[in-house]
Amino acid sequence: ATAGRAATPPMGWNSWNAFRTDVDEAKVMGTAKVLVDSGLRDLGYRYVNIDDGWWLKRRSRDGRMQVRTSIFPSAKVGGSEGSSFRPFTDKLHSMGLKAGIYTDIGGNACSQAYDLHSPNLPEGTTAERQIGLRDHVQQDIKLYFADWGFDYIKVDACGINVYGADSPVVKQYKYNVYPPLIDQASINRTNIPAVRALYQQVADALAASNPDGDYVYSICAWGAADVRSWGKDVGNLWRTSGDITPQWSRMLHTFDSASTRALYAGPGHWNDPDMLFVGHGDFDVHHLTEARTHFSLWAMINAPLIIGYDLRHAPPALMDIWSNKDIVRLNQDSGGHQAVLAYDSDDVQIFVKTLSDSGTKGVLLFNRGLVPARITVTPAQLKMVGDVALTDLWSKKTMMLAGDALTLTLQPRESRVFEARGKRQLADGMYLSEIPGAINI
Ligand code: DGJ
Repeated sequence: ATAGRAATPPMGWNSWNAFRTDVDEAKVMGTAKVLVDSGLRDLGYRYVNIDDGWWLKRRSRDGRMQVRTSIFPSAKVGGSEGSSFRPFTDKLHSMGLKAGIYTDIGGNACSQAYDLHSPNLPEGTTAERQIGLRDHVQQDIKLYFADWGFDYIKVDACGINVYGADSPVVKQYKYNVYPPLIDQASINRTNIPAVRALYQQVADALAASNPDGDYVYSICAWGAADVRSWGKDVGNLWRTSGDITPQWSRMLHTFDSASTRALYAGPGHWNDPDMLFVGHGDFDVHHLTEARTHFSLWAMINAPLIIGYDLRHAPPALMDIWSNKDIVRLNQDSGGHQAVLAYDSDDVQIFVKTLSDSGTKGVLLFNRGLVPARITVTPAQLKMVGDVALTDLWSKKTMMLAGDALTLTLQPRESRVFEARGKRQLADGMYLSEIPGAINI
């Protein structure tokens, strides 16, 4: 079966970067209210996704997953059912939002592996304690979608040896210690067809439980098992790296893991460099240059725009970033062309994103370095001819790229995002293969 829809990159919020396993219903619903009241929902941020930490670490006797009702009180329902997220998803739907849930492809999820969060009820059998999808694909997918009414699922990979059984990474990978780059050796160690088949089983169960096809399937296998080559045939988005952290260098790493794979993306299937960390660490309210850059990079490469901040306490300067409607529009353009690298030298990069109308492109100039840099942009890099009008999508000011070149100075870690208007040099669809060296698969 084919994947769900995700015609444009999914947008919304997820609990993990904001709360880790300290997620609860008040936090999620408080955030949902801000999405509505602030106008973010109407800009497209519709998915409200809970991540790791929502379950009791024991299935019921008949194998049903149980909600941790101490933190999600609305899931406490009477009768033999025990618990149900239906009141929770009903509430989100009544607010014009959609609901996302999290599970794992194996027998356990990450928080269990590191023994975090909910009490491990002592009397359960081994099978009852298995809270990932292993041996429960049909049952769980039916429960989450048909019974509980979720619209989106993220399937993590802590319960299998996704890096290969004898990989050093498996032994190293502890909570908060993130795996290194996926190298060819780790791909070779992994049983790729086996991992793919597991994720495909979920795709089939999702299609069966959602005859209308209106759902999103997020594969969270961290770029391992060569997911880049099969993710688009199985799910709607696939992580291209280990976890992002609120550190500049780690953000660049996850960005690079997705930005170099433009050919894999298109409507319904997106590279996923992980969720936004705008608001935290190197991207906090004191580092707005970095925060804007992080957001702009994600928008340009058609990454899902999943906010990872406690929106109940978001300062206006951060709200201005997520709600830049011109940058969101680049990300959500119906053509689904991921930006490609048009120029790359030392710390300076230029990305170009062809848009679905006939005359415009998104352009991002990026100074990755720690000193100011001069960046020269030419019509040829943009594959445009003649004069090009460049409208800055943060300041909204327009300047002309008339003649050969325009040179701008960018501060350390600064990016500038423009909408370029002019005449295209190439017909639609030719741009990827026509930029030499632009695609490094
Ligand atoms: C690993 C994933 O990559 C993260 O996004 C997050 O879901 C954690 N697991 C949760 O434990």
